[in-house]
Amino acid sequence: MFSTRKIRIFDTTLRDGEQAPGIDLTLEQKVRIARQLQRLGVDTIEAGFPASSEGEFFATKRIIEEVGDSVEVTGLARANKNDIDRGIEAGLASIHVFIATSDVHLKYKLKMTREQVLDRIYESVKYAKSHGLIVEYSPEDATRSNVEFLLQAVKTAVEAGADRVNIPDTVGVMTPFKFQELIKKIVEVSSGRIISVHCHNDFGLATANSIAGVVGGAGQVHVTVNGIGERAGNASLEEVVMALKKLLNYEVNVKSWLLYDTSKLVSELTGVPVPFFKAIVGDNAFGHEAGIHVHGVIENPLTYEPMAPEEVGNFRRLALGKHSGIHGLRKILEDQGIYLDDEKLKEVLQEVKKIADSGNKVSAEDAKRIATRFLTS
Ligand code: KIV
Ligand code: ZN
Repeated sequence: MFSTRKIRIFDTTLRDGEQAPGIDLTLEQKVRIARQLQRLGVDTIEAGFPASSEGEFFATKRIIEEVGDSVEVTGLARANKNDIDRGIEAGLASIHVFIATSDVHLKYKLKMTREQVLDRIYESVKYAKSHGLIVEYSPEDATRSNVEFLLQAVKTAVEAGADRVNIPDTVGVMTPFKFQELIKKIVEVSSGRIISVHCHNDFGLATANSIAGVVGGAGQVHVTVNGIGERAGNASLEEVVMALKKLLNYEVNVKSWLLYDTSKLVSELTGVPVPFFKAIVGDNAFGHEAGIHVHGVIENPLTYEPMAPEEVGNFRRLALGKHSGIHGLRKILEDQGIYLDDEKLKEVLQEVKKIADSGNKVSAEDAKRIATRFLTS
């Protein structure tokens, strides 16, 4: 698969990401993240849900003032006039309108019939369009909806003038092949409008499903930095961007070398740590300990790295432990100005392994301290 199609990145860190329990950003924090997202090069920033609180309203307004000239800023609205008006009052030129289409949501949450939902989609999209807004419509819980009804909902939004239609896998129940097929069907009834995907990570498939959606014809992906969001989170921006660029050769506007710093900023401001093993931005994403791996990476990083750490602003970290070999140890010591012959290196390595075998960590400084003894002996 070799494609050069350009894919839009719609970032919802400040809306869906912030919906996660325990994440409550202040206005200033939201603005700092928005500025970083604008630098990063996302195509749309979903700044918040203006009708949900005063704080969200003013944060959305400030974000538009701060970055609205250089990036599309949108806000979430239920499919009703009040929410759309609140978005307009906040200064939005783009709005993300949603109403659910699955029977379970219609019956237990909305208490509406399918006909009523179709009417609401038509009226709300038309209303937002009549105010000159860019409109993206989401049939919430799309992937558990009756497919015929979902297609009707999409067609209704398109007829009412929606510019984009986003397909949310609200509770993360899709698998890649299924989702790819669904998106193909949606594209067929969408009269050339951009189709977007919004995948939750309940089964750990959010990135895979997002990519499958793109292969199925989607032209936009909803993501959050570090994958934060409701329950198991959303598709993570860094994973989606790098998979699109490196594995499938799609074009994206995101400046990948800012991914690591963006991840760190969001982690610091939300208080949610980035897992050590997290792809792309985790501290072990370019970590190597086993002797064979370290030797390979020192000779040529391509042996055990599918991309260069600098490409995503991350770092290569060579670690010491019971699996270490002489090449890694030599590199770690030489980086600290210590040069030993092979015999002495072997002796230092034995000491390092003794410490590691007893369950303790061995830092580069520990290795230096041990090696210093051998320098004089
Ligand atoms: O997951 C979801 O369905 C959403 C919608 C509001 C788009 O976040
Ligand atoms: Zn969501």
